[in-house]
Amino acid sequence: MIAPQPEEIESAAEMLRAGGLVAFPTETVYGLGAIATDDIAVQRIFSVKRRPNEHPVIVHLADAEQVGEFAATWPAEAALLAAAFWPGPLTLVLPRRSGVATAASAGYPTIAVRVPAHPVALELLRRVGTGIAAPSANRFSNVSPTTAAHVWDDLGFDVEMILDGGPCDSGIESTIVECGSEIRVLRLGGLPAEALAECLGRDHIEIGGFTPAPGTHRRHYAPRARVMVLDHPHGLGAVANEPDVHVIGLNRDLEACPNPAFAAESLEAFARNLYSQLRLADDRGARLIVAVAPSGDGLAASIRDRLSRASAR
Ligand code: TXA
Ligand code: MG
Repeated sequence: MIAPQPEEIESAAEMLRAGGLVAFPTETVYGLGAIATDDIAVQRIFSVKRRPNEHPVIVHLADAEQVGEFAATWPAEAALLAAAFWPGPLTLVLPRRSGVATAASAGYPTIAVRVPAHPVALELLRRVGTGIAAPSANRFSNVSPTTAAHVWDDLGFDVEMILDGGPCDSGIESTIVECGSEIRVLRLGGLPAEALAECLGRDHIEIGGFTPAPGTHRRHYAPRARVMVLDHPHGLGAVANEPDVHVIGLNRDLEACPNPAFAAESLEAFARNLYSQLRLADDRGARLIVAVAPSGDGLAASIRDRLSRASAR
């Protein structure tokens, strides 16, 4: 595994303390970080990303003990989910402590927090000793970055430092759960909704509802090439043999396709490689990306969610 030296992580921490921006790896996607309580530094995240100011940012923490710095309450169900899934691809939206992280919360009365499961992110968080506000390290509405090279392609010299921790393991963003008067999934992601329900002893958890989340905009995570999503591999034959077509899907769904660009062995491999495949298709100048959507629930539902956003026009 690629791992930055401890001195590099220490300079990144110093850079953050001085009000700078540092891109760093998490297990989901790369984040563009600033100290969460430094409103001026957080404002710069918005301008570098070209992201509208009214979209709140997730605060990353070293452990659940830090939640109290940012959240006004710690509901029992949030504590259960955190105990089961942190560090990991789960973001909890909680009532915010007033006066804290105003820019990161975009002024909303709530705050999104998560403990990431990447050793470099955790080491950086431990060294700064407080929360790091970080959206995905891409320009607004581009595909999220899952390697340091993707971050460089999007943001280049606009950030002070990019920590390279190798390719992200999970590959799609965290699952976001609102823990207010009710429990609700605001964005599907790396942690399947079924696992949340099971942890809380419920039959199911509601998905959707109003949210200021930009990841829930219809057109998001979109490459330049047009994306066509097929629910069945049947229709594949007609398009797959045309020039400049980049075909991706699960191995088992691509048997009829002589030359797929990417045939995933598993759902995990599909999720891990999805964004890099969308970027690769653009780099190769593909005219069309054809994705065969995986069937079923769990991670398959999260992959279908990202494919449908990537294909929205
Ligand atoms: O896996 C991830 O979640 C990655 C890594 C870097 O941690 N981060 C990420 O950040 O995807 P971003 O900003 O690209 O998406 C964060 C989502 C946005 O849709 C944002 O609106 C939502 O979290 N969010 C943040 N604070 C919120 C809040 N208080 N209420 C509702 N949604 C919130
Ligand atoms: Mg994003």
